[in-house]
Amino acid sequence: MRIILFSGKGGVGKTTVASATGCRLAKEGYKTIVVSLDPAHSLADAFDLNHKEKYEAKGLPVKVSSNLHIQEIDIQEEIDRYWGDVYRFLELLFNTTGLDEMISEELAILPGMEEITSLLYVNKYYREGEYDVLILDLPPTGESLRFVSMPTVLKWYMKKVFKTEKMIMKVARPVVGRLTDVPLPDESYFKALENFYEKLKGVDEILIDPDTTSVRIVANPERMVIKESQRAYMYFNLFGVNVDAVIVNKVLPQEMDECRHLRKWLELQTEHIREIEAYFSPTPIFKVPLLEGEVYGLEALERLAELVYGNSNPYEVLHKEEPYSFIKENGAYTLRIKAPFARKENLSILKSEEEIVVRAGNFKSHILLPRKLRDMEPEKAVVKDGYIYITLIPLKG
Ligand SMILES: Nc1ncnc2c1ncn2[C@@H]1O[C@H](COP(=O)(O)OP(=O)(O)OP(=O)(O)O)[C@@H](O)[C@H]1O
Ligand SMILES: [Mg+2]
Repeated sequence: MRIILFSGKGGVGKTTVASATGCRLAKEGYKTIVVSLDPAHSLADAFDLNHKEKYEAKGLPVKVSSNLHIQEIDIQEEIDRYWGDVYRFLELLFNTTGLDEMISEELAILPGMEEITSLLYVNKYYREGEYDVLILDLPPTGESLRFVSMPTVLKWYMKKVFKTEKMIMKVARPVVGRLTDVPLPDESYFKALENFYEKLKGVDEILIDPDTTSVRIVANPERMVIKESQRAYMYFNLFGVNVDAVIVNKVLPQEMDECRHLRKWLELQTEHIREIEAYFSPTPIFKVPLLEGEVYGLEALERLAELVYGNSNPYEVLHKEEPYSFIKENGAYTLRIKAPFARKENLSILKSEEEIVVRAGNFKSHILLPRKLRDMEPEKAVVKDGYIYITLIPLKG
C-alpha cells in the first residue's frame, strides 16, 4: 500500500492537489481513498458534493467515482465515539504534577488527539489493506509537523510510561493514587488504553518507510510560503519521513506578461521558482499553473492532475534518499542526518539511554540507536552540505 501525505501552508492548494492526485490514481486503476484531517473540511467541496451527500457521509468514506472514495474525519466525533475515556484519562495523567519528573520536558508536546486520531486511521487502512493508496490531506504545516512527530513522541511515552499493563499498574497507579484530588482510574481505563496502543502499534515504522509513505509538499511561488515549506522539509527529514516531491502550485502563466500589473508578479514568481529549485533540489519539483478559475469537480481535478504529474505516475515513489544513516569509518561511527536547512546555531544534540535527540528550533527528533551504538555518545556535530554529521565515540568512564 502507498500512503501519500499532502502538506503545506494554509491555502496553497493542498486539498485540491491531494484530490487531483486521488482522481488520477483512481483513473489509473488504483483503489484510492482521500482522507481529510482538516477541521475546515473542503474535500467534499473539491469534489462538488451537494449538501445532502455531505450530510449523509457523517465522517464515513463516500464513493465519488469507480475507484475513488473520500472521507472527511470529524475529530470531535471520533474522540467522543471511540476515545473519550482514554483521552480524559491521558489528560488527567499528564496534568498530574506527580508525573513531572518522568515526563519532564516532553510534556510540552503532549500528544494531540487530532494527530493521534489521524495515526489511528493510517494504521487502520494500512492493516485492512482495502485500498491501494491512502491519500492524507493534512492540516496546514504546523499541525502536520506535529503529526509526523507524534509516533516518536508516543513511542517515548509508551516505552517510559505505558509499556505494558503491568508497567501501567506499577507506575501510574501509585502515583495517581497518592494524589488525593485525582480519582484512580478503574480497570476499564487500562483496558481502553491498552487497546489504544495496540491500534497504534507499528504506525511509526509505516511513516518512515520510504517505499510506503511519501510526503508531497505543496507550495506557491511566494516568499512566506517558501520559508514555511523549507522548514517543513527539514522537519520531515529530521523525522525520517521521505519527501518525494515539492509541488509549486498557482504559477502564473507566461501570457500574464501582457498586463503591466501582473508582469511584476510574474517576475517575482520566476525569481521565487529559482529559489525553490535551489532549496529543494534534488527532490523533484512539479510546477502547476494557476487555472482560470477555482478547481472543483472530477473533471477539473483530473485536468489539474494532468498538469501536476504529466507523464509521471503519482503512485511511484518520486524520489528517495535515506534521511539518516550510520557511517562506519575506521571503527568509528558517524550519524548522518539529511537536514537541508539546519544551521549550526540552533542545533542541539543530546544522548539519552538509547537515542540521539536532535533539535532544530522548536522541533526535535529521537533517533533510536542500533544496539551496537547504544554505549556511544556524540562527540561533535558538523553541519555541511545539507547534512548534520554527528561523530559518536565510546562513553567515557
Ligand atoms: N492551480 C490552481 N488554479 C486555480 N485555483 C486553484 C489552483 N489550486 C487551488 N486552487 C484554488 O485555491 C483555493 C484553495 O485551495 P485548497 O482549498 O486546495 O487549499 P488548501 O491548501 O487545502 O487550503 P487550507 O489550508 O485552507 O486547507 C481553492 O478555491 C482552489 O479551487
Ligand atoms: Mg485544505
